[in-house]
Amino acid sequence: MTTDLAVIGLGYVGLPLAQAAVQAGLSVIGYDVSDRVIAGLNSNKSHVDDLSDADIAAMVKAGFSATKDDSVLAAAKAIVICVPTPLSADGGPDLSAVLGATHTIAKNLKAGQLVILESTTYPGTTQDLVQPILAESGLVVGEDYFLAFSPERIDPGNKKYGMRNTPKVVGGLNPASTDKAVALYEKFVDTVVRAKGAKEAEMAKLLENTYRHINIALVNEMAMFCKDLDIDLWDVIRCAATKPFGFQAFYPGPGVGGHCIPIDPNYLSYQVKTNLGYPFKFVELAQEINAGMPAYVVNRIQDQLNTVGKALNGSKVLVLGVTYKPDIADQRESPAIPIGLELLEKGAQLEFHDPMVETWRLNGRELTRVADLKAALNRADITVMLQDHASYNTDELINESNLLFDTRGRIDHPEVERL
Ligand SMILES: NC(=O)c1ccc[n+]([C@@H]2O[C@H](COP(=O)([O-])OP(=O)(O)OC[C@H]3O[C@@H](n4cnc5c(N)ncnc54)[C@H](O)[C@@H]3O)[C@@H](O)[C@H]2O)c1
Repeated sequence: MTTDLAVIGLGYVGLPLAQAAVQAGLSVIGYDVSDRVIAGLNSNKSHVDDLSDADIAAMVKAGFSATKDDSVLAAAKAIVICVPTPLSADGGPDLSAVLGATHTIAKNLKAGQLVILESTTYPGTTQDLVQPILAESGLVVGEDYFLAFSPERIDPGNKKYGMRNTPKVVGGLNPASTDKAVALYEKFVDTVVRAKGAKEAEMAKLLENTYRHINIALVNEMAMFCKDLDIDLWDVIRCAATKPFGFQAFYPGPGVGGHCIPIDPNYLSYQVKTNLGYPFKFVELAQEINAGMPAYVVNRIQDQLNTVGKALNGSKVLVLGVTYKPDIADQRESPAIPIGLELLEKGAQLEFHDPMVETWRLNGRELTRVADLKAALNRADITVMLQDHASYNTDELINESNLLFDTRGRIDHPEVERL
């Protein structure tokens, strides 16, 4: 029996894609290498923030299932790759999951199939790495099978923009591949945008993320000197953002986190340096500034404690919010991690609270969330808000903490220090 769609990699990106396709009436199968992920999904359990257990149950009821058996790929009309693309130990791209998934497809590839890569990667990956592996099947791209790239734009926790109403960029290795990929996405995405080719689609994703990365670095650098100039940058941004054209507001913070912004621009700068021999200066500067924010935040904590005659060593520091975004549970690449580690290294007695997280993982060490937030605010020498989850009550934070340092600019109050 044929399936309309097989999704490889059932995480933050693959699962919402599978859900949208199921909701549009397509028959969908999920393939993953993780036993934990497969067992969870097949027993109606979600492991990502954007889908609830009920969402998974509805998908399963509509015929979705997850498997580790790659033979299911041979029966799919279209196969979409949504596996992770992290950085390797030396800071370069780690494409092992993409290559692994592609080899798995190659051994199952059949005439007429459409293969799409969604994992974020550097321009040229679809043509130079994926296509040669699929060619081992003996099938010819554009004639026997079709190959395209379509960048994932999922924004975990975003209530307004999801799979259906976020335009999808698609670029094939040839026009026939673009046509096939556009036709697939048009079944469950309102607007599908044709790129000239796969490389343009790959680069579009990196432009989007590099743009964010650089603009966040810009306001982070401004936050540091505005503090020294005694200028309230948050008010500056509020004023600038009233300009109805030519300006988009970005906000400073304790560092960049998550699976995309701290990682993707490195894919681009790595490629520019490796292939062309010169640096991508904007990205490298942004990287340097954003990577320096956790240490800057720790310095500011020290300064705050100094104002009341206390040293960081031995002081009780309560951290609020350890995820990389508000109102989600994802701790990946969160700047809270380097901040927590440096606080511990400098002798702070560290506690944390996060409504979304029970266990804070700090490079092998684990901290358990404080049981009573009010009592923790009362006993901490300083409370540092690293993530402004919506459920935090601003008045409670102001009234119950001894010193309060807000790195997210949420609280405008004379007794609260802002980044
Ligand atoms: N999470 C986001 O917000 C986001 C947004 C845009 C783009 N992306 C990009 O999408 C891609 C996927 O990210 P994610 O957040 O969904 O990752 P994830 O870690 O949530 O999920 C990836 C899944 O792939 C599985 N997997 C790993 N190797 C595999 C293989 N060889 N074969 C089959 N399954 C395999 C893992 O077990 C896991 O379940 C990355 O390239 C990422 O940069 C992520």
